[in-house]
Amino acid sequence: MSTSEASPAQSGLEGVVVADTRLSEVDGQRGHLIIAGYSVEDLAGHVPFESACWLLWHGKLPDSRQQQELGRALGEARLKAFEAIPRLGDALQMSNGMESLRAAVAHLTASGSDGISQSTDLVAATAVFVAGWMRQREGQTPLRPDPSLGHAEDFLRMGLGRSPSAPAVDGLNTYLVTVIDHGMNASTLTARVVASTGSDMVSAVTAAVGALKGPLHGGAPGPVLEMLQSIRSPSRARSWLEAELSQGRRIMGMGHRIYRVRDPRVAVLEKAIERLARAGLAGEKLQLARIVEREAERLLQERHPERALRANVEFYTAVLLDAIGLPAAAFTTTFAVGRVAGWCAHFIEQQKVGRLMRPVSRYVGPWPESVPR
Ligand code: COA
Repeated sequence: MSTSEASPAQSGLEGVVVADTRLSEVDGQRGHLIIAGYSVEDLAGHVPFESACWLLWHGKLPDSRQQQELGRALGEARLKAFEAIPRLGDALQMSNGMESLRAAVAHLTASGSDGISQSTDLVAATAVFVAGWMRQREGQTPLRPDPSLGHAEDFLRMGLGRSPSAPAVDGLNTYLVTVIDHGMNASTLTARVVASTGSDMVSAVTAAVGALKGPLHGGAPGPVLEMLQSIRSPSRARSWLEAELSQGRRIMGMGHRIYRVRDPRVAVLEKAIERLARAGLAGEKLQLARIVEREAERLLQERHPERALRANVEFYTAVLLDAIGLPAAAFTTTFAVGRVAGWCAHFIEQQKVGRLMRPVSRYVGPWPESVPR
């Protein structure tokens, strides 16, 4: 046997086009995110989550009747998901929220009559299961959905166990729209690969939840909040960050595989936090976050002048979700509450392609003498 000599392959499929999509486009050089024909800045903070779902699933924004129609369908689907909780075994009792969501979603059956009704069921179930898990971890029982409420408001009410304020609902709507879709990220690719095999939407979403769970994908906002809590005051920012970097650790919420400029979603979330701050919900953390971001950018620029390591969406996600009152343990699961709508849209799109995704690997293992090269 001989072993072939080869340099390790790039592990991230960088630059490989795996699909044509009408859903979203990430321009990493110039810092644009386009969602089905709209800049993220023109959608997030302007339309509720339901409208962004409709946009992804139908290719255009809904009129007010269509928005109400989807609101009603989501409300009914939340009730249906709530009725399913007794059949989820111990899924909602698990200590890790993403493990809980993965186990809970895996219990579902894709039973809707078409892709859009299945998507509605999955978006609804994700919110109900995440909120139910939040209640269980507080030692409380899950709260019944209120189908008369908007999706973001009902999720917050069920998860926090109280009626949220209007600015908090506005902040969460902005967040859910901001993260609804983002090109061929790892969890979306996962969902599309499952779709390409002819499998069902529940399987695709279950697999995507598994991909989102990883700290390099959806797991950064919790550590960002911990960083801000441990820095505590602006005067400590520089020395704290220097100590982290000198120990070879990464600054969470900074850097991105695609963006070479500041992630455009950062400014959208920053504006939403400013609105929360005016309502008295976020003031000090926002000031601190801005100073830490500036210092981190400066220090990373000194260490990697060849690489623009700027803030990514997770940096201000931490500040926003904290201001809304969500616990850090629920940050990644709240990401899933928004992104699930994108996964479903990609599932439908990939299903229409109707072709198995089958990339190739490069064999670098031992080669038998008996087989000619
Ligand atoms: N803090 C410190 N150094 C960082 C860094 C960060 N946040 N992000 C990248 N770097 C460094 C890397 O260590 C690398 O240095 P090296 O060449 O000396 O090893 C260099 O910058 C180039 O890294 P890059 O190729 O841009 O990283 P990547 O594309 O593999 O990683 C991330 C992208 C997002 C995984 C990375 O920036 C990161 O880990 N960020 C923190 C986690 C985070 O916020 N994740 C959420 C992403 S939305």
